[in-house]
Amino acid sequence: MASGTSRDVLGKGLRVLGRAIREQPRIFAVAVSGSVLFGLLVIASAYVVGAVVGDVVVPAVERGAVAGGALALAASALFGISVLRVVGIFGRRLGAGYMQYRLQAAYRRRVTRRYLDLPLAWHHRNSTGTLLSNANSDVEAAWYPIAPLPFAVGTLVMLVGAVASLFVTDWALALVGLAVFPALFALNVVYSRRMAPRQARAQRLRAEVSGIAHESFDGALVVKTMGRESQETARFAARAGDLRDALISVGRLRGVFDPMLETLPSLGTLAVLVVGAVRLQQGAITVTELVSVAFLFTVLAFPVRAIGWVLAELPRSVAGWERVSRVLDATGEMPYGDVTLDPARREPATLGFADVHFGYEPAEAHQPGTEVLGEVTFTVPAGKTVALVGPTGAGKSTIASLAVRLVDPDRGRVTLDGVDVRELTAASLAATVALVAQVPFVFDDTVRANITLDRAGIGDDEVWAALRLAEADGFVAALPDGLDTMVGERGTSLSGGQRQRLTLARALAGRPRLLVLDDATSAVDPRVEAAILAGLRAPGDGGASILVVAYRRATIALADEVIYVEQGRVVARGTHPELLATVPGYANLVTAYEQAEQEREQNRTYDEVTPVPSGLEMEVDR
Ligand SMILES: Nc1ncnc2c1ncn2[C@@H]1O[C@H](COP(=O)(O)OP(=O)(O)OP(=O)(O)O)[C@@H](O)[C@H]1O
Ligand SMILES: [Mg+2]
Repeated sequence: MASGTSRDVLGKGLRVLGRAIREQPRIFAVAVSGSVLFGLLVIASAYVVGAVVGDVVVPAVERGAVAGGALALAASALFGISVLRVVGIFGRRLGAGYMQYRLQAAYRRRVTRRYLDLPLAWHHRNSTGTLLSNANSDVEAAWYPIAPLPFAVGTLVMLVGAVASLFVTDWALALVGLAVFPALFALNVVYSRRMAPRQARAQRLRAEVSGIAHESFDGALVVKTMGRESQETARFAARAGDLRDALISVGRLRGVFDPMLETLPSLGTLAVLVVGAVRLQQGAITVTELVSVAFLFTVLAFPVRAIGWVLAELPRSVAGWERVSRVLDATGEMPYGDVTLDPARREPATLGFADVHFGYEPAEAHQPGTEVLGEVTFTVPAGKTVALVGPTGAGKSTIASLAVRLVDPDRGRVTLDGVDVRELTAASLAATVALVAQVPFVFDDTVRANITLDRAGIGDDEVWAALRLAEADGFVAALPDGLDTMVGERGTSLSGGQRQRLTLARALAGRPRLLVLDDATSAVDPRVEAAILAGLRAPGDGGASILVVAYRRATIALADEVIYVEQGRVVARGTHPELLATVPGYANLVTAYEQAEQEREQNRTYDEVTPVPSGLEMEVDR
């Protein structure tokens, strides 16, 4: 690493500190005031100690008698100084702590808020481990130097005061100070420059280690069933080893510089004693002054280290801050419009796709052939059920994401009741459409909380109604605490089918006017699936239009229309019998699904998502 980058780090680091001070100016003022008070009192204490030695101890030794009055005065001065120093330290510590932790909390909130605002495309590019470490260790690292910052600022003031008082005392001693203090400062700067690349590397490796750890625990099922424990451990150990090496190199540098920083002030004291002895002989200074200055150098050694602490933390702070601001400055969130669909209208909504093109790469980077969807045009008329059928990877989930505006098309329009979804407010969109995703996500919370998600107007009656529609009321009622049962992280205590029905109930509880089911009932017994879909289609209470990604013939047969997609294009549309008769690809696919389904039936394992086809599941499915 060139020193240019290190100089950058110093500049950037100071800018990060500037930002911190701008955000918490009052607390910073309190902390710095405490620190300056402390610094000035340190100087004062040196002079009082000098006075005690020069005016009390030396005369006492010479005369053989102690001047009681002077001693009492000096003692009370030292006591007063100590009390005030305590006040200074208290103010500084309290202020610095408040400032550091407030900034941490504020930026944790900002980062996590930003995660939720950023589009799915951004999340696809960033691993969960990175997101965790951005919100956690990077935010912490960014504000580490805040803890010693007020101390360091107070110390700078103290150093200026010390040099000034040296000049008042004697120019020769002042020269010693002018040599030692800048040398200390320079040593600190060199230290932090050497530290910069090491700290940045360590911070990056911290994120990688937590990323790997997160992935292996998250994929514990795969790791275990595939017997990948030792490979995963090795992968983790390699990165953990890199982190260890990086941290050791940080420690080694610290080991070299810390003693130097410790020794330099002592050398200063030595120089003061040598120069001071000469000046004393010349009669230029008094014993009081010599002792004061020598003592001053001794007591300055510790506070000066605070400057080193700040400088040493700056590289880590800059590395952390850059990772945090990468999140805060990330763009691409989808701005919402200001159109509201009439909330009182409870009848089903009409979904329209008009010449929709979409690719997961940013639109300008589209190579020919990277488009996932092209010329997709279809309608789900109000109150109708449309089935989306197609081979794996055809773009069904992508169409589902577009319908609920998880992503926006590169070209073309997605409309709800004729309004482009980009023009709708977030609230109106959320109230109108609901997606039940292919992979159900359940929060580590109660059944009730998983269904209401704190949305207004969803009481227990609505929850039970939604559970009934999703055919989930049976198993929930059989749970030990009913709606209050905790479902475990990601719903691990539930079977795959139970989880699917819970997420379905969650979508239904909001009484959406358009329901998008992305293979949302695959882990459910076919009879139950048919019952659920039939229940959803039943008129009464407004009902909903349904776009359903379907595989089973029974499900497809329930649809008013089937849209058959292949490689991101709508190949055919019509009723199920029509497509069966006219589209060979469709007929093959549906027949293949059916055979697979029959085999599964024979094996009697309805819950393929997790290996928990327990008796409970069968019992409540009756
Ligand atoms: N996040 C993503 N980033 C890049 N490409 C993606 C992403 N998600 C899906 N794709 C690609 O888009 C295409 C369509 O995927 P999609 O998930 O829509 O298929 P699908 O029809 O739902 O398949 P399945 O039946 O297996 O669920 C696939 O080629 C897939 O590789
Ligand atoms: Mg899919």
